[in-house]
Amino acid sequence: MASYTIRRGKIEDCKALFELAMKLRVHTGDAAFGGPTTTEDMLREDGFGPKPLFRFYLAIYCPPEDGPNTGEKAVGFVGVSDMFCPLSGRTAYLTGLFVDAEHRGNRLGVALMKAIAKDCLTQRSSRLSFAVDTNHLDTRKFYASVGATNLTESTTPNEYWRFFESNMKKLAEADELKSSSGKTITFQTV
Ligand SMILES: CC(C)(COP(=O)(O)OP(=O)(O)OC[C@H]1O[C@@H](n2cnc3c(N)ncnc32)[C@H](O)[C@@H]1OP(=O)(O)O)[C@@H](O)C(=O)NCCC(=O)NCCS
Repeated sequence: MASYTIRRGKIEDCKALFELAMKLRVHTGDAAFGGPTTTEDMLREDGFGPKPLFRFYLAIYCPPEDGPNTGEKAVGFVGVSDMFCPLSGRTAYLTGLFVDAEHRGNRLGVALMKAIAKDCLTQRSSRLSFAVDTNHLDTRKFYASVGATNLTESTTPNEYWRFFESNMKKLAEADELKSSSGKTITFQTV
């Protein structure tokens, strides 16, 4: 009988992680906006270098013993990064969840989220945040089924905002800022 294992990702899993992340990029539509901004080497360095920035869990498919020996294969991943907020303390951000289409419906998505929930509790994170692409709104049903709250629909709705790199650069490199009244403030960041 085929079976699945959920386990923490290791440095030697970065190739499989990269392949799964690229499939998620296609699914989200990000692939249409140019090449990926990560590489397998970046995943190795940023996941397992001197300052690890993320960790991940994989769903591993183990083929049935009485079938062709196709070997074990990573068929899903979930990633998480730590954050810290002076108001809330340790929090975390979900950095991707994906299960290969042919393996969906086997509760691997739930099992991966369970691994992340345990991980966050071990790290003493008080919350796990993430965004859901509005082109894939049916995924909301999945997140609701594991117990996540949709903040957009909550009594105190939250908007999701993003600073893209080009605008981050503009702001970071500006040495003067104009107020709406036209007043120019020159400042120095030391
Ligand atoms: C979302 C995803 C990870 C779910 O993985 P999965 O292993 O198929 O999900 P599970 O088998 O654990 O499903 C758990 C429950 O969620 C429901 N569900 C799963 N995917 C769903 C979807 N896309 N829409 C609606 N419901 C969904 C299932 O019906 C199941 O409910 P049930 O137990 O009542 O039948 C998978 O569909 C996927 O990788 N999708 C593409 C990538 C994606 O959307 N990632 C999230 C980015 S924000």
